[in-house]
Amino acid sequence: MKGLILSGGKGTRLRPLTFTQAKQLVPVANKPVLFYGIEALKQAGIKDIGIVVGDTKEEIRRAVGDGRRWGVRIVYIEQEAPLGLAHAVLIAEDFLDNEPFVMYLGDNILKSGIDSLVDEFIRKKPNSLILLTEVPNPEMFGVAELHGDRVVRLVEKPKKFISNLALVGVYMFDYLIFEAAKSIKPSGRNELEITDAIQYLVDKGYEVQPHLVTGWWKDTGKLDDILEANRLILESIKGDVKGEVDKKSKINGEVVLEGGTVVKNSVIRGPAIIGKGTKIIDSYIGPFTSIQEDCRIIKTEIEHSIVLRGSEIRDVGSRIDESLIGRDVKIFKGDCGPSVYRFMVGDQSEISIK
Ligand code: G1P
Repeated sequence: MKGLILSGGKGTRLRPLTFTQAKQLVPVANKPVLFYGIEALKQAGIKDIGIVVGDTKEEIRRAVGDGRRWGVRIVYIEQEAPLGLAHAVLIAEDFLDNEPFVMYLGDNILKSGIDSLVDEFIRKKPNSLILLTEVPNPEMFGVAELHGDRVVRLVEKPKKFISNLALVGVYMFDYLIFEAAKSIKPSGRNELEITDAIQYLVDKGYEVQPHLVTGWWKDTGKLDDILEANRLILESIKGDVKGEVDKKSKINGEVVLEGGTVVKNSVIRGPAIIGKGTKIIDSYIGPFTSIQEDCRIIKTEIEHSIVLRGSEIRDVGSRIDESLIGRDVKIFKGDCGPSVYRFMVGDQSEISIK
């Protein structure tokens, strides 16, 4: 069994971060989203993994390498444009070499992993196994309609309600998916949709087995979902304090302080994770906060947020909440003078002020 991780796409829903960074490398609990997928495949015993990459290929390659770190073999497959998930399958045909495979969308995280599903697929040998979960907003996903436990219809981003069972971004296929992907036409958004390819399998009478996901699942393509994934991952971390904490500081709950962190006159209330070399001074870090390495948080209150490496936040008067702050960002109180806001903010940034 092989693995195919899709890590192309433009990440438009996460701009401006994705102007300079691949969406699959945005960290959740200080680990790139993509690494969760690689680990899930490894955990399920899959060691031969192809990653489909687009414009951000160099950055992905640099971050992931050849897979040795996880004890897997990783090769890269270039997709010249984001032409759809079924297109990604087609360009990976040589790599997949007619073996059954798991296709894993690189911005998805599944709490329960995929071990038992891979076992089930190997044991029962359907032509495809799809994962489904109930969602309140099915129009944002591909959805499947079931009759009993049989898949009868699949629709990508349905305008009219047909089902609230969304396709989770993890699929299993055998060689028949190539015939399906070659038979379908591009959709309205000019993509070869995997949803249409699976519908082809259903129409031809091939076996598409549905599986309802019970644990949580997140597609981290949007701000709220990244923050929510961060919260869910942090909920299960175990505290580990390696940094330097002075007597005036309090660390409560599950808090990871990586090596070289400095905490002075501050309160950190977990679950939270602070990356190496970061300094927290005269501040409050609240639950569900991940701060990457080499940041400075000074006289600031922040919670339920993600701060990327090298950023400095100083003297901010109100508590920062539900925020995603990019790399090397500076947020600070200016010199005295009239009470004004002063910004230098990139394209498509979002600032909310009360
Ligand atoms: C893609 C699939 C969709 C699936 C979703 C899961 O959507 O096309 O069927 O439900 O991933 O994350 P996209 O991220 O391309 O909007």
